[in-house]
Amino acid sequence: MLYRRFPARILIAVVIATTFVTVPFSGLAQQASPVAPNRAQVEAVVKEAYDKFRSDTSGKNADYIPFLAQVDSKMFGVAVVSTDNQVFSMGEIKYAFSIQSISKVYTLALAMEELGAARVFDRIGSEPTGRPFNSVPAVVDMTTHTGNPYVNAGAIATTSLIAGKDANEKWNKILDFYSKAAGEKLTLIDEVYKSEAATNAGNKALSMLLAKYERIYAEPFESVDIYTKQCSVGVNVVQLARMGATLANNGKNPASGEQVIKPENVPYILSSMMMAGLYDGSGGWAWKVGLPAKSGVGGGIVAVVPGKGAIAVFSPRLDEAGNSVKAQRVIEYVANKLDFNLFSPRSVGLKGE
Ligand code: DON
Repeated sequence: MLYRRFPARILIAVVIATTFVTVPFSGLAQQASPVAPNRAQVEAVVKEAYDKFRSDTSGKNADYIPFLAQVDSKMFGVAVVSTDNQVFSMGEIKYAFSIQSISKVYTLALAMEELGAARVFDRIGSEPTGRPFNSVPAVVDMTTHTGNPYVNAGAIATTSLIAGKDANEKWNKILDFYSKAAGEKLTLIDEVYKSEAATNAGNKALSMLLAKYERIYAEPFESVDIYTKQCSVGVNVVQLARMGATLANNGKNPASGEQVIKPENVPYILSSMMMAGLYDGSGGWAWKVGLPAKSGVGGGIVAVVPGKGAIAVFSPRLDEAGNSVKAQRVIEYVANKLDFNLFSPRSVGLKGE
């Protein structure tokens, strides 16, 4: 009998050994990337960063969206997903926070899938505003009026580019696209949507101003409503890191293997993240970190390391520009320790003196 030849202790040992050998990371890994980071190094550095910044209480929750003011500001989660689908995460990894402005990246990607990059560039632009994300003067002053796809005005205009027979069809397309980038079905957080929809007169004003300049491409308030829904999509920090890793992996989700975004569109998305992903904090971010990233007032930031992977951090306390303080610190620390800064020759292995 089998159990006589293989006593329980040996069987258990075999099962454990096989588990570690065959599922060392997250299971569905695609073919190993030649530049994916070393797991042990990433783990060690992320743990260091987590411990170093966990008790940092700088900044405060967004409060202009009433729901966000109530979110537990102590929550803190970090996730790294590599282009070969290694997953490493720490802290609060289950809580679904609202994606907020990080959604703008993926609506831009969808608009480019539908219209091509040139038309989207023509209708939206990619100039940093140097102003807060909800600035009215920026819409008036900038020659494009829309600025770039990541400030509210440019993002609402980008959402208005998504085709569909009605608002529902457009919204469902957007949600499906985000889900493909995350590799999991994402859903709307209804309380966030209601809270934001009840307080978004500023975004409605931006949409009307865009209409005056003929820089919105569907009915303005319908576009604001779809935009408000896209901002209210819930993601946990691992899902967000995987959305980033999809960009790092040339538009192909490293878990599902699906080509979600055309590879030729990825540099446009990432370069605009570098220029404007953290709004009027983007210049300081580029100086210190050198990675394309996008923040949301829900407390998430995702930074993309092209070819290697993405790091996402969730911590609700924000700085004046609306960017999570702790997320910036953690990503800066990890990027410096692991030589991720794209402007450094060290990022491609040239160590120098
Ligand atoms: O429209 C708004 O103001 C929010 N739904 C999104 C703003 C945001 O996330 C800015 N990011 N840091």
